[in-house]
Amino acid sequence: MSFMFNLLFPDYENGKVLYHNTDLRDTWKALEDCKDAGLARSIGVSNFNKRQVELILNKPGLKYKPVCNQVECHIYLNQTKLLEYCKSKDIVLVGYSVLGSSRDENWTEKNSPVLLEDPVLNAVAKKLNRTTAQVAMRYLLQRGIVVLAKSYTPERIKQNFQRKTQHAFYTLVTAYVNDSVALTFQLVFTLKH
Ligand SMILES: NC(=O)c1ccc[n+]([C@@H]2O[C@H](COP(=O)([O-])OP(=O)(O)OC[C@H]3O[C@@H](n4cnc5c(N)ncnc54)[C@H](OP(=O)(O)O)[C@@H]3O)[C@@H](O)[C@H]2O)c1
Repeated sequence: MSFMFNLLFPDYENGKVLYHNTDLRDTWKALEDCKDAGLARSIGVSNFNKRQVELILNKPGLKYKPVCNQVECHIYLNQTKLLEYCKSKDIVLVGYSVLGSSRDENWTEKNSPVLLEDPVLNAVAKKLNRTTAQVAMRYLLQRGIVVLAKSYTPERIKQNFQRKTQHAFYTLVTAYVNDSVALTFQLVFTLKH
């Protein structure tokens, strides 16, 4: 259950978002029917917060729970609480825009930091002889997140599948994301020397 911006995201003539008043549980029931009819192997949700996931899980007569919740996830939006919650309910968190997206100018703040230019990710990538994208994805994989990465470039697609790396780097990026300045500094120093 999700909407694609500019395609299925309805709005008023003045550009204000037109909210729907459909009960998400009814939509979920329709998806359960699709699964029963053999039209879908697995069903999940996208861009659901904890409250919305709970709504589905507590639905009277629930037949199938969502197998996954696909949300934006990367070092600048690491979704710690939602991840913890989804894991506790055996729902796989699937991350999108894991490389910081293609920065579509319609919805990206021009001055927001560019994820693949992040200095710590780049330092780690350089040290371990990996690409920055590989480091960004490996960090999420090691947290038990499924990663979606998009590229139209054959060489990058190939690289994006090669994500082996070392534990030291994971600790480093975790410290960085959690704002542990001392630990990050110490690890960057260790990696550099
Ligand atoms: N459920 C939702 O609401 C939702 C929302 C957004 C996206 N998604 C899904 O998530 C998928 C991916 O997300 P996304 O497109 O937002 O962003 P993304 O995968 O984070 O970023 C895509 C951008 O990264 C570049 N890129 C890919 N690999 C790279 C590499 N190794 N080095 C440098 N740059 C690299 C691509 O450029 P090139 O193509 O030029 O290589 C492209 O500009 C989409 O296909 C979409 O299906 C879902």
